[in-house]
Amino acid sequence: MEATLLQPFLEKKHDESRQGEAFAPFQEDPIPYKKHFYIESYGCQMNFADSEIVASILKEAGFGATRNIEIADLILLNTCSIREKAEQTVRKRLTEFKKLKKAKPSTLVGVLGCMAARLKSRFLEEEKLVDLVVGPDAYRTLPQLISEADGGQRSVNVLLSREETYADIAPVRLNSNGISGFVSIMRGCNNMCSFCVVPFTRGRERSRAPQSIYDECQDLFREGFKEVTLLGQNVDSYHWMPDLSIEEKTGITKDHYNRQPVNFAQLLEIVALISPELRVRFSTSHPKDITDAVLHTIARHENICKYIHLPLQSGSTRVLQLMNRSYTREWYMAKVERIRELIPECGISSDIIAGFCTETEEEHQDTLSMMSLAKFDLSYMFFYSERPGTLAQRRYEDDIPLAVKKRRLQEIVDLQGRLSHESNKRDLGKSFKVLIEGNSKKSDQQWMGRTSQNKVIVFPKNEQQLQPGDYAWVQVKECTQATLIGSIL
Ligand code: 5AD
Ligand code: SF4
Repeated sequence: MEATLLQPFLEKKHDESRQGEAFAPFQEDPIPYKKHFYIESYGCQMNFADSEIVASILKEAGFGATRNIEIADLILLNTCSIREKAEQTVRKRLTEFKKLKKAKPSTLVGVLGCMAARLKSRFLEEEKLVDLVVGPDAYRTLPQLISEADGGQRSVNVLLSREETYADIAPVRLNSNGISGFVSIMRGCNNMCSFCVVPFTRGRERSRAPQSIYDECQDLFREGFKEVTLLGQNVDSYHWMPDLSIEEKTGITKDHYNRQPVNFAQLLEIVALISPELRVRFSTSHPKDITDAVLHTIARHENICKYIHLPLQSGSTRVLQLMNRSYTREWYMAKVERIRELIPECGISSDIIAGFCTETEEEHQDTLSMMSLAKFDLSYMFFYSERPGTLAQRRYEDDIPLAVKKRRLQEIVDLQGRLSHESNKRDLGKSFKVLIEGNSKKSDQQWMGRTSQNKVIVFPKNEQQLQPGDYAWVQVKECTQATLIGSIL
C-alpha cells in the first residue's frame, strides 16, 4: 500500500461541509481486509460523524476502508437533503458510478443518510443502480442488508428510531487530522422550522448517555486529540434522563453521570473537565434554547471555545414567524447582547437564508441590518430551496424568483465579507492562544491554526520545535477577510 494513502485526507473538510456539498474520502486502515468499502459524505458535520459510525460497523463485519473506488466491493454515499443542490450533486455522483458498476457488476452501491430517509424505496426504482438504501437510524442493520444485497435482493431500511444514538459504537476516525474530533451527542430534531427537511429525515430528538460521550472524548484525548466538537442538530436541547427503572429492576447501580438528569450546560462542563489541554467546541445552537447556564459554563472554562454558531436565518420578525423559529428580531439581538455581556470575547457566526417565501425587499433589508447589528464574524449563507414535505412547502408559495433570491444572497454574502474583514481588523495587535492544526495551505514554512473564536490564523514557524496539536501564543499583525496573519510571541 502506498504510504500516501495512510495520510489523513482533506483535513478540515468539515468546515466547508457545513455548507452542504463537500465530500470526503478518508484514511485507510493498514489491516488487510478481504472486502473493502468506499464512502463519500455530503452535508453537515453530523453526517461526517455518522460515516465514522458506519465505518466502525462495517469494520466489525469484515470490511476495510479504501480511498480507491476502483477496488471497492461496496460504494456508499452518505447523503444530504437540506437543499435541492445537495441532492443533485448526489444524483450526478450516482450516474458516475454506472461505469464502475458495468465493469464490476458485483460491486454494491448504497445510499445512506437523509436522501435515503426522504426517498426510501423510491430510490431503488428511480436510480436503478442502487442496491441498498439505509436511513440514519438503521446503520446497525447494514451487515444484514449487505448480505441480502449480495444475494441479489435490493434492500431498504429507513426506519427512524426514538432511541438509537449509537452510543456504544466507537467511531473509526476516517477523515481526521488527529487533532480535532467530532462527537455526536444527540440525534434528530424536534423544532420543525418550516423550511427544514431534517425532522423528517432524522426523526425525533434523543440524547446520548453522558458517560458514553465522556468516554469517547477521553479516548480521543488519550489518542492525542486536542479538540472535540460536540455535535447535534440542536445541542441546547440536549437532555439526558436516566432510565432508573433498569436500576430498580436489576439492582445494578450505574455510575454517577448516568443516574442524574444532565442538561447541555452540565455536559459541556463534564467534557471540559477532562483536561484543560482539550479544547471543547459545540454545534449547533438554537437562539431560543441557549441558556445563561451554558453561557456561564463557557465563560468559566478557558478550554471551552469562545465561539457560538447561532443561526439567525432572517432578520425580519414576520419571516421568522413564517419560518417557525419562535423568536423575534429583538429577542435574537438581546441574546447576542447577553452573549457579549457574559463572554465579551466570544465569536458569533450565523446561518442565513435569502428569499424565503413572501420575503419583501424591506424584509431582506432587515436581514442585512440585523447582520450589521449582530456583527457576525462569519455566516453560512444560502438562498431558500423548497424541500418536499416541509411545512413551508405545504403552507406557502415559493414565490421569490430565482434571480431575486440570488441577488439578495449576493448582497448578504458581500455584507458578510465586509463584516468578517472588520471583525478581523478588530483583532489586529491582539494575541491569541492558537491550536496548531498543520502547515498553512500556502507554505510549509508557516503554521495554520485556530483561535478559540474559531478564526483561522497563519504564522511563520520559528526556532521553537512546535508541531500540530501544540498550542502557541500568536500576535495578529495583518489580516484578510478570511484569515488572520500573525507571529509567535
Ligand atoms: N433552503 C435553504 N437553506 C436551508 N437551510 C436549511 N434548510 C434550508 C432550505 N430549505 C439552511 C439553514 C440551516 C442550515 C444548516 O441550512 O440556514 O441553519
Ligand atoms: Fe443534510 Fe441531513 Fe445533515 Fe441536514 S442533517 S445537513 S439534511 S445530512
